[in-house]
Amino acid sequence: MSAPSDIIRHHRNGSAAIIEIDRPPVNAINHDIRAGLIAALAAIAGDDGVDRIILAGADDIFAAGADAGEFGLPMVEPDLPTVVTALETAPVPVIAAIRGACLGGGLELALACRWRIAAPTAQLGLPEVILGVVPGSGGTQRLPRLVGMKAALSLIPEAHSVRAGAALKIGLVDQQDDDPVAAALALPLASFEKRPPLSQLPAPAADPEAAAAALARARRRMPRQRAPEEAVRLIGLAASDDFGDALAAERATFLTLRDSDECRALRHVFFAERGARAPARLKPVVPASLDDIVVIGGGTMGAGIAHALARSGSAVTLIERDDDALQAGRKRMSGLYDAAVRRGMMDETAARAEQDAIRFQADYDGIEGAGLVIEAVFEDMKVKRDVLTMLDSAAPEAVLASNTSYLDIDAMAGCLADPSRLVGLHFFSPAHIMKLLEIVNGARTADHALATGYALARRLRKIPVKVGVCDGFVGNRMLQRVREAAELLLLDGAEIMQIDRVMRGFGYAMGLYETQDMSGLDIAWANRRRQQATRDPRRRYSKVQDHVCEAGWLGRKAGRGWYMYEDGRATGPNPDVVPLINTEAARHGITRRELPDDAVMRTLLLALINEAADILEEGIASSALDVDLVLVHGYGFPRFRGGPLCHADSMGIGMIRDRLAALQETDPVIWKLSQLIGRLADAGQRFLD
Ligand code: NAI
Repeated sequence: MSAPSDIIRHHRNGSAAIIEIDRPPVNAINHDIRAGLIAALAAIAGDDGVDRIILAGADDIFAAGADAGEFGLPMVEPDLPTVVTALETAPVPVIAAIRGACLGGGLELALACRWRIAAPTAQLGLPEVILGVVPGSGGTQRLPRLVGMKAALSLIPEAHSVRAGAALKIGLVDQQDDDPVAAALALPLASFEKRPPLSQLPAPAADPEAAAAALARARRRMPRQRAPEEAVRLIGLAASDDFGDALAAERATFLTLRDSDECRALRHVFFAERGARAPARLKPVVPASLDDIVVIGGGTMGAGIAHALARSGSAVTLIERDDDALQAGRKRMSGLYDAAVRRGMMDETAARAEQDAIRFQADYDGIEGAGLVIEAVFEDMKVKRDVLTMLDSAAPEAVLASNTSYLDIDAMAGCLADPSRLVGLHFFSPAHIMKLLEIVNGARTADHALATGYALARRLRKIPVKVGVCDGFVGNRMLQRVREAAELLLLDGAEIMQIDRVMRGFGYAMGLYETQDMSGLDIAWANRRRQQATRDPRRRYSKVQDHVCEAGWLGRKAGRGWYMYEDGRATGPNPDVVPLINTEAARHGITRRELPDDAVMRTLLLALINEAADILEEGIASSALDVDLVLVHGYGFPRFRGGPLCHADSMGIGMIRDRLAALQETDPVIWKLSQLIGRLADAGQRFLD
């Protein structure tokens, strides 16, 4: 680690003292930066010839925020408010010269300056709520004084940031210049010398309407989270309270939130995302070229994958089984391009050109130069093996990838002359939008193929998580387990709407049954039929879901699933499901009884957590972070709960062990306490330790 003096440098340039922050990669503000700034200001204060101080970041970043790594640790003085005050009360005015990210604590430093000059690359905002906190060093008070209530309320509670141009328009910066330091040097003293610091500006006028709208937006976008609501409240104080009192309220709120489960969980996901990349072992491995990629199957997934690949600049060939299917695939892709144009992501000419460049064909001709081939054909081992057998000779050099949801990659690889070429690349639907990519490491998958998976994730800006081979890998295996738990809860007496309601109450955007209706019940049904032959006959199995499918109630697309639909909108629960549940409960000898909401949610969580622990124990996932990433990014587990294992830690491992042990007594086949949980509880440890 560099010494503070290397991180904060200062030098004279004419009558200006220039202070530079240099802590790569993003100048995250830690103790060294804070102490260094105080020391630099003290050193400059003794220099009579200085008429201005220019605060800048070395290279192309001002400061991307406080170092979240320090959040879990005791605060070491000086804190950021002290630095902000020192900048605001420096003997000569300070000018912020801003390039690149100027976010969170970085913007709070800039708001302590008398004048702000931004390069076109600058990005400014106070996105603290993303990490479950509010600005803690005056941001909620200085920003509304500078840009007004409305703008502050649209920026802070929803973590929006603005580019230099927009910042200039709302008055967040005073000037835009390609070279902000040179501009600060050239600035006539008279233009900023007499300016009062922002803390001394008159309070902004209250805007209850804008505050109510901001609160409603925050509740919609980040439901059940405290930080966005607190941000709205604190911004309101800028109008009603004395600056010093409001500042103290802001700091107290920041410190409370910093120690909350919400902040801990959001930090956990943030760091897990940042750590999701190829392991060091793969660094020297050269991946296959991604310039020319073939996708086999132009259905829901194939079309989405091909679209994402073309958008990222790869030359794409889409292969279907016959001309009719090819036509359908082409239509699906043009639908995706139409949507991209509608959303303003590209113009029509570019969309047309990109589509025209995609090769559509119903044979395997001319693909021998491809670096990567991704199959997304039917979820059927025979179909997949037939395709791979064709590829064995048609694309002899390529890395081959399967997008299978559940099937055994190793069994697929068996039909290749070189099985090490095959890797699983499990995309999520819609493939061009969802951020998660499970990279399935088969028993014989070569490092070259794995590295190609990571390189693809990088190119598509997806979050890669390496997983091992098992039925459903990490995500779908856990989903199956939670579905099973939900089905049995229905037999015990829970209601479909109750399960969905408690999941939404926990923070999911949709409940389990609403989600099933939305994506269609048929894929999971086919999967259950596939598993029938190997299912443990002692394992309790509810046939309700199968009866629902047999009746043709396949979800929203069929107008009926667990719920009823009219014009695509749910009108209420499907009344014919309840008799199915009652009959099935009777067949199991169960007398249904009312279950409390908290017991329902806890059972679903226990199922998830126990399965996750087994997944870790078996080495299917490499870390608790990986499991949490999969559930947060692929299955809607609320981000502010951090994922099932982060949440398990806050529930308490001892309590989880005891509850699972009690469930095991009632049904030792379904509820088999994971050994890992037993060991952690005995040792007083947690998943994230
Ligand atoms: P789909 O039924 O929409 O599309 C499959 C496509 O493959 C069809 O267009 C079909 O004509 C084509 N196809 C079938 N046999 C072929 C062959 N021999 N050669 C060329 N094309 C052939 O299915 P979907 O949903 O796109 O799933 C594809 C794969 O992706 C499956 O393995 C599925 O498990 C997996 N998956 C599906 C997800 C989903 O949410 N739908 C999510 C993640 C993975």
